[in-house]
Amino acid sequence: MSNVLFRGNTYQYLNKYCKKIAFSKVIVVVDENTSKICLPVFENLVTFDFDYIEIKPGEAYKNMISVQNIWQKLIDLEVDRNSLIINLGGGVVTDMGGFAALTYKRGLPYINIPTTLLGMVDAAIGGKTGVDFNGLKNQIGVIQEPLLVGIDPVYLKTLPQRECLSGMGEVYKYGFMADAKLYQTLQSYKDTYPSDEVIKRCVNIKKNIVSQDLTEQGVRKTLNFGHTLGHAIESYFLTKPEAQQLRHGEAVAIGMIMALYLSHVKTGLPEEVCREGQLLLKSRFSTPQLSDEDQKHIITYLKHDKKNRHDTLQFVLLKNIGQAVWNITVTTDEVYQAFENYQRLLYT
Ligand SMILES: NC(=O)c1ccc[n+]([C@@H]2O[C@H](COP(=O)([O-])OP(=O)(O)OC[C@H]3O[C@@H](n4cnc5c(N)ncnc54)[C@H](O)[C@@H]3O)[C@@H](O)[C@H]2O)c1
Repeated sequence: MSNVLFRGNTYQYLNKYCKKIAFSKVIVVVDENTSKICLPVFENLVTFDFDYIEIKPGEAYKNMISVQNIWQKLIDLEVDRNSLIINLGGGVVTDMGGFAALTYKRGLPYINIPTTLLGMVDAAIGGKTGVDFNGLKNQIGVIQEPLLVGIDPVYLKTLPQRECLSGMGEVYKYGFMADAKLYQTLQSYKDTYPSDEVIKRCVNIKKNIVSQDLTEQGVRKTLNFGHTLGHAIESYFLTKPEAQQLRHGEAVAIGMIMALYLSHVKTGLPEEVCREGQLLLKSRFSTPQLSDEDQKHIITYLKHDKKNRHDTLQFVLLKNIGQAVWNITVTTDEVYQAFENYQRLLYT
């Protein structure tokens, strides 16, 4: 499992490490926003020289064209195999920068310094890297862990509220699928920007699960709670005008509302627990109407999910809060019932 360090420890380690290894080049991958906002902070904290590569921000650019641009810039900068890549950004930068690093000249070591809440609690940890392809999420990629993940909540000071709330989607996920105590804390949680303690709790859950099952053969699947539908919803909304698009964590929150219903029907989650969880998510996240037409398109995306096997839809569901089970087969009809339940919830 890669080393995960907090706040100042990250730079202390990084500065010593870069001095000791004497990389031929250190390249920092940023997007246009983290280049302006986070790179100056980072630059003040490190003692080594680096070049940087800037990519366009947002999910719409998480594709092979951006990866090719990174590869081309690495070639232009004459980056050799004795170099290091540092990804400074949200999940899009760490997913794509990690993939570009692992595939350039058969693989460079990389380090993630997440600058969004979603990156800190989830995307930067665990070595899943990759891009979307033909409108489908994360279809191309590899799993290999970074050398280090450096979590510094100082970057959250500039993160827009909506992006932070998207990260909270993953924080709620941890409460539902692994940590009943965290779930209890979240029931009365009002802050948009979580404490170091909440971040560390999520990091520890992810580290613990990844250390048991890096390549997602079993228990790592539980981290996909809410994501089977969440990814399909996110992909579908990406085809809409930008103003209607959903952030990753927002789509996952809707996916969790429906997965709670399916958990009640299929894996015995008590009705009152299902209801309480759904109302909690509804009170925190935006919950758009999903018309019959929307539902049809989302089901089409759902059928491409990587977790499906032999034409059946596979879900992670809950037996109770903190008790997730995986590889639960769900029929298309049951998904339509979950949509119906979601639509009804919007009117309560
Ligand atoms: N690899 C994994 O295990 C994993 C897990 C969960 C999610 N993901 C992926 O993560 C992606 C979502 O990540 P995200 O929510 O971080 O989105 P993101 O990387 O698109 O960042 C969101 C926005 O915030 C901006 N930003 C980043 N840091 C900032 C800061 N400190 N101040 C101001 N603006 C800042 C970015 O430029 C971007 O516009 C999705 O593609 C999702 O599939 C990956």
